[in-house]
Amino acid sequence: MTPGQHKSNGSSSPPVFVTGAAGHVGANLVLRLLEDGVRVRVLLRREDNNEAVEGLDVERVYGDIRDLDETRRALQGCQGVYHVAAMISTIEGNLAYRRNIYECNVLGTRHVLQAARENDAGRVVVTGSFSAVGYDLDNPSLPSDETMQFYPMERTMPYERSKALVEHECWRAAAHGQDVMVATCCAVIGGADYFPSRLGRTLCDYTNGKLRAYVDGGFEFVAARDIVEGHLLCMAHGRAGEKYIFSSEYKTISDILDLYEEVTGVMRPGRRIPTHMMLAFSEVASFYLSRFHPSFPQRFTPGAIRLLKKCRHADTSKAQHELGYRPTSIRDAVHQAYAFHYHRGAIENPLANPPREEAMTRVQNSASGADISIASEGGPL
Ligand SMILES: NC(=O)c1ccc[n+]([C@@H]2O[C@H](COP(=O)([O-])OP(=O)(O)OC[C@H]3O[C@@H](n4cnc5c(N)ncnc54)[C@H](OP(=O)(O)O)[C@@H]3O)[C@@H](O)[C@H]2O)c1
Repeated sequence: MTPGQHKSNGSSSPPVFVTGAAGHVGANLVLRLLEDGVRVRVLLRREDNNEAVEGLDVERVYGDIRDLDETRRALQGCQGVYHVAAMISTIEGNLAYRRNIYECNVLGTRHVLQAARENDAGRVVVTGSFSAVGYDLDNPSLPSDETMQFYPMERTMPYERSKALVEHECWRAAAHGQDVMVATCCAVIGGADYFPSRLGRTLCDYTNGKLRAYVDGGFEFVAARDIVEGHLLCMAHGRAGEKYIFSSEYKTISDILDLYEEVTGVMRPGRRIPTHMMLAFSEVASFYLSRFHPSFPQRFTPGAIRLLKKCRHADTSKAQHELGYRPTSIRDAVHQAYAFHYHRGAIENPLANPPREEAMTRVQNSASGADISIASEGGPL
């Protein structure tokens, strides 16, 4: 057994610690760990929506990673840490909002790493974001790999900056000998999307006939099951101080709409909004909403449109060669996402297809699921 591999014998081995377990990635990860027979302890925030772990055979601890003592206590006795939690956002927000992003993501990661060291909890796999990976400045659509550093000299979202700093926390800890690595995540599509994510909501809105247009651009998408597999591969075979990018496929927004149409049976919108127009509109809308209605969920934001406009591609060869990562298909991920939302009653359109049987079965077994994303609805992270 390699240093990071889990013992899968239920009660006698120490639990693996998972932060962000109620979220989209965390919920899929927990389901997979349970499926593999691993004992799991999840960190939850008591007052929040924890439906994703309801009825699951996991140890629950309550706390906030912004609080070092709570994090220390929560992690006691664990062996192996998946630090998945983060505050995801594509908006600029006000000072308080940005501070919250910083504290949840950067300080939170520092606390989890410190608590893991103090508790001798072993390997820590931290979920990263492709938006914090750099790109070719002359041609942003060329594939980015792990060697490309986040570019700080342009307008970026607070979330993106925070995820770049999350990596900095990891490299600092690794330089001091901690066994930590980053599993870089692209835009997630899959089931077990209980909040639901912005992308999951978009799939439901699409199917329910609420999407009238789309924008250009594209991004790297990762099936929920692939990003989960990536985390497990990191834990089992990753090298400390390294980052591994996990993606399934690059898709344009138009490709994604084609998949939606195929999966849901609902005809896609034909009206395309040029990115520059969408960007201008989103700047105005975002400026207004951030100031006058800060809690109103922004459906599309300048940051997300900027990201999509770059048409960024990912190079996953490091994960494939070093870890044996094998990406699966986004089509299947969309099927799983659709089945999940359909099963939960979020699809109101009587003309929409029933989900594919095997995707449905997987949802019913709580084994996996899916959700999706569209450009004009907030875009990828
Ligand atoms: N989804 C994507 O497309 C995507 C793309 C790139 C990278 N990622 C990365 O993947 C990871 C998981 O994303 P996700 O999509 O699963 O996000 P998510 O669905 O929003 O879930 C995030 C989870 O983190 C928890 N959390 C946030 N702040 C916390 C704090 N201060 N203390 C304790 N828990 C806290 C949340 O708890 P509450 O429920 O209590 O708020 C929630 O359960 C993140 O690190 C994110 O940066 C995701």
